[in-house]
Amino acid sequence: MNNERKMHLNLFLSSMGHHEASWRYPDSPTDQLMNFSYYKDLVQKAEQAKMDSVFLADRTSLSPQSVKHGSSASFEPTTLLSALAVVTEKIGLIATVSTSFNEPYNIARRFASLDFLSNGRAGWNIITSGTDSEAQNFNLETIPDHAIRYKRAKEFLDVTIKLWDSWEDDAIVLNKKTGIFADSQKVHEINHKGEFFQIRGPLNIPRSPQKRPVLVQAGTSEDGKEFAAKYAEAIFTAQQTFIDARAFYLDVKERVIKHGRNPDQVKILPGICPIIGETEKEVKERENRLQELMNFEHSLIQLSNRVGIDLTSASLDEPLPALPDIDEIQGHKSRTQLIIELAQRENLTLRQLLIRLGGGRGHHTIVGTPQKIADELEYWFLNGAADGFNIMPQVMNPDFDRFINLVIPELQKRGLFRTEYTGNTLRDNYKLNKPENQFMTI
Ligand SMILES: Cc1cc2nc3c(=O)[nH]c(=O)nc-3n(C[C@H](O)[C@H](O)[C@H](O)COP(=O)(O)O)c2cc1C
Repeated sequence: MNNERKMHLNLFLSSMGHHEASWRYPDSPTDQLMNFSYYKDLVQKAEQAKMDSVFLADRTSLSPQSVKHGSSASFEPTTLLSALAVVTEKIGLIATVSTSFNEPYNIARRFASLDFLSNGRAGWNIITSGTDSEAQNFNLETIPDHAIRYKRAKEFLDVTIKLWDSWEDDAIVLNKKTGIFADSQKVHEINHKGEFFQIRGPLNIPRSPQKRPVLVQAGTSEDGKEFAAKYAEAIFTAQQTFIDARAFYLDVKERVIKHGRNPDQVKILPGICPIIGETEKEVKERENRLQELMNFEHSLIQLSNRVGIDLTSASLDEPLPALPDIDEIQGHKSRTQLIIELAQRENLTLRQLLIRLGGGRGHHTIVGTPQKIADELEYWFLNGAADGFNIMPQVMNPDFDRFINLVIPELQKRGLFRTEYTGNTLRDNYKLNKPENQFMTI
């Protein structure tokens, strides 16, 4: 089969893997946790495999339990990606940054800089954050309400986009004879006065190679989907089943159309957490081994943090205790909903639920041979549930190597994934248009 439409593959880069016990896995090189060369090798391998992009998540707090039991050390995403930009050429570089604990001017500069450093490969995963522990590192006691966070995120995006546009494309003159560096008529103050921000502008960095970095979003609540429909060019999402993924895909694409945008210009990438092996027996053994390495006390604390309710005294052998109505959850709404639905649908005890979440925090886990994994990706891709996938190996070593050496060639053989890059920027990889500049009159 030689499809015109190819799937997009992003590597969700995590230090040792997405299984919560991956760092304890015997082959995991934990001594490399803060070693740049380790990440350089992973990203260069992803580029050799022609993956579209790599992505770094971020959380700006650390609980004492994570210090003790979790693999908690990590780089600040835009810093690590700036270093990776100079040792790669084609692969996109997507960093997570929260709109709740930053200022637009700083973030606009930071992403424009990454876009220049990488010659047009920057992407921003826009998050609103969701925990009190993060708020407590930024002058607050508790996390602002969900609706307020999204309101701030909208204003944040509107002004950040204005700042990126504040230099018209041809503003730079560089005339040594006349001494004119830039045409001041083409560099604009934005003079924004809103509910959350007051910003004069212009930005102190010209319009970057992609015009704007690619905007990525990963919230799936009602507010999250509306936000994505208005701004996002790529969407990462956690979906447990094909049916849920298809419903989400249709819902978001319809919302995109309602916002007057082209649905092909918004790429939807559900997360996939594979354990890959030559035989079903081998992968089952690895799955069991990872479960043995889990620390349920720590898993329960992580689940409590995720849903924003203290579950640490709940019995592991009983069902998940009743949680407040989803409208009352002020943290990560959609993930909480997913967890409740998973526990109810499969009638899981709390221990079984923690095991299910251990492999990918609610993302879709697949355990099997390369063919089985390729079959599933093909099915979701060809049947309206995905434009591509966010690949989250459960254990980096060996699942990432196996994904690029065994699954990607299988997808290429089936005509579903590129064999060569056809451009140089993240927009080229994701087949996204360059945005117009709101200050330019044609
Ligand atoms: C693939 C993926 C990556 C995410 N990365 C982060 C992250 O790095 N930091 C974070 O606080 N939230 C992260 N999230 C969570 C969401 O961005 C969002 O905050 C969460 O889904 C709650 O938003 P909602 O209430 O609109 O659903 C991620 C979600 C997904 C699906």
